Amino acid sequence: MSKTTATKGLVQQQLVGEPTDHHVLNALARRLLPGASLGAHALPEAERFVIRRGKGARLQDVRERWYIDFVCGAGALILGHAHPVATAAIKDQLDRGIHYFGTLNEPCLQLAEVLVDAIPCAEQLIFTTTGSEATFFALRMARAFTKRDKILKFAGAYHGTHDCVSFSVASATADYPLARAESAGIPAALSDSVLICPYNDLDTARRIVETHRHELAAVIVEPVQRIIFPNESFLPGLRRLCDDNDVLLVFDEVVTGFRLAYGGAQEYFGVTPDLASYGKIIGGGGALGAVAGKAEIIGLADPALKGTKDHAFVNGTFHGNPLASVAGLATLDELRKPGFYRKLNAKADTYRRAFQKVLDRHGLPARICGEASFWQILFCADAPRNHADILTSDQARNRALDLACLREGLYVLPHTRRFISAVHDDADLEESVRALDTACRNI
Ligand SMILES: Cc1ncc(COP(=O)(O)O)c(C=O)c1O
Repeated sequence: MSKTTATKGLVQQQLVGEPTDHHVLNALARRLLPGASLGAHALPEAERFVIRRGKGARLQDVRERWYIDFVCGAGALILGHAHPVATAAIKDQLDRGIHYFGTLNEPCLQLAEVLVDAIPCAEQLIFTTTGSEATFFALRMARAFTKRDKILKFAGAYHGTHDCVSFSVASATADYPLARAESAGIPAALSDSVLICPYNDLDTARRIVETHRHELAAVIVEPVQRIIFPNESFLPGLRRLCDDNDVLLVFDEVVTGFRLAYGGAQEYFGVTPDLASYGKIIGGGGALGAVAGKAEIIGLADPALKGTKDHAFVNGTFHGNPLASVAGLATLDELRKPGFYRKLNAKADTYRRAFQKVLDRHGLPARICGEASFWQILFCADAPRNHADILTSDQARNRALDLACLREGLYVLPHTRRFISAVHDDADLEESVRALDTACRNI
């Protein structure tokens, strides 16, 4: 049987007219996707499922089982699945075309205005397609502006998939500032351009920045690193350290942007970086990213500078995509409504308290770590201050609980944050408390 016939056979049998079948789709995933996965997350065969649709706070798989969604598009879906305002905006745009490559278009310009208005550090911005591309271009611009090559990133921080930031993400690090490649295929020479520092540790950051200031373009930080919140002096201290040493400060706001507050981490913590990268929420669930910042830095992407030593080359087939832009605009309209974040964060507090009670009732040495509208269950005694603390938590037990939650109909990915959306309601809360209770009993 030829390669094509084998694939077509399954798809035709199962997708044309017939109800799709969980086992057949799983077999397709096993055969066609590495590890039967779309990326970094692969669920064990027993817990793996194939989604048919998302509606509000819930997902339905092809077996017609429903899950309460605590992944929420890795944080992108702050209004839940298929929210009427985003869906209506997308449907309306569909009739006007979904892509006008390389040309200015109305929705992306309207969104640019809303973003620059909302983001404290923004005077100008460039659009990208993903959050990874946004951190990639932010660092390229920082290098172009400072004419220096190195960046400092924090151990355990995730800034996407490109080579420059794929160092010391999951692995343990102790020999700061040495960078460890997180993947095969990263040029060895690149590790010299990345310096690693523990999060929430200003003294070590100061030592590294002062030693390397003449070759350091930028410090890039997730203002909330995964689930670790910064201590009070950390972000203001980084701002001062960068100013004192003439190094740029880049906030990776791909998750925190429009999630912690309308003005993201910059508003929540009162610290303004030179550049900030965005993704997730700004596309309303569609693929869209952006880098915002000072005009003197962002302006280096001006095509009129092509051929000069200052020009930072930026381009992308899907940049400023109108479909994602209208979804983003409709979403941000909702987020600007009075009390939106107060209500969302208060609801998340209720979830956190209810879940902690369940863990305590079962005597599990686990704590809910988080603020605003996201959290993570960690098996550790104290709130983590850095990546090393996360690595010392009981990850095997954590995984067992996460998988037990999945079996009870809570969509969570092992070792990742839980997000909630504006449409998670009291019924979702009650059901998820019951499900967590059963999961705790079963591990
Ligand atoms: C902080 C942070 N930066 C960058 C990225 C990469 O974004 P994307 O997956 O859109 O490439 C992510 C993705 O989760 C992220 O959490």
